[in-house]
Amino acid sequence: MTELIRIRHPDFDLDSGIPRYWMAGDPFKTHFMNALSSVFPDGEAFFVRAVMHYRERVEDPELLEAMRAFAGQEGQHSHHHARHVQMLLDQGYAAIGRMNRMAGRFMAWANRRLPLDSLAHTAALEHLTALLARQVMTRPEMWVDEADPRMAAMWRWHALEEAEHKAVAFDVYRLAGGGYARRVVAQISSTLGLAFETWLRMAYMLWVDGLLLRPRMWMDGMRWLFGRTGVLRGRGGDYLRWYGRDFHPDEIDDGPEIARWRPLVEADIPAPA
Ligand SMILES: [Fe+2]
Ligand SMILES: [Fe+2]
Repeated sequence: MTELIRIRHPDFDLDSGIPRYWMAGDPFKTHFMNALSSVFPDGEAFFVRAVMHYRERVEDPELLEAMRAFAGQEGQHSHHHARHVQMLLDQGYAAIGRMNRMAGRFMAWANRRLPLDSLAHTAALEHLTALLARQVMTRPEMWVDEADPRMAAMWRWHALEEAEHKAVAFDVYRLAGGGYARRVVAQISSTLGLAFETWLRMAYMLWVDGLLLRPRMWMDGMRWLFGRTGVLRGRGGDYLRWYGRDFHPDEIDDGPEIARWRPLVEADIPAPA
């Protein structure tokens, strides 16, 4: 299990003056990040409900403490990404709010009716967010260094905490009796679902901006995502480890990155109470 999970209470200045294309002045890159960010508030509320559903069954005080810290960190992420979503709504991307309300209702239903599948999806998505976090921390020049500094601070903080708590949902899933087949199915469904949601939202925002049908922008954008030095390149092997029968998130060692990034992130944030 991750050694220590701190709940931090940052106060990012997201209320004014963030440029519309805050990621390198580029609509494609910005809307890719906007799309990811916009699924987090409801998604992370779903994660917290999925994990805390099983708190009565957990006797290990260390795991209980990790669950509490997981809920605290994800609650903070949800809060700050909701502020980002509000910024998108203010910019005129109204359908993002409708998509979130629909997805939020579905996820609340799944939490109630399919708790173990919800937890399997949570653990699966936490594997994906941990891989994204690893990308941010190992290749900041491709991710956060190109962003508006206020946005960059938020993404650095979120990446660090995803790495810190990446094993919690998985540990609860195992304790709840979750098996191999269910988590394989959950990963396939989570990967396809997250990809679909991201593309749909990104395409919608580009359409609102009148930029959807720009072949050159798409070519450059696809190169930025999947090209030789693309932001999503180089984690295929780590992604596939999920499908190993004996996989545990801690077998991918994020310790050195966590140690390197903690002081950088905490320099922007008041000390925890
Ligand atoms: Fe998060
Ligand atoms: Fe997370």
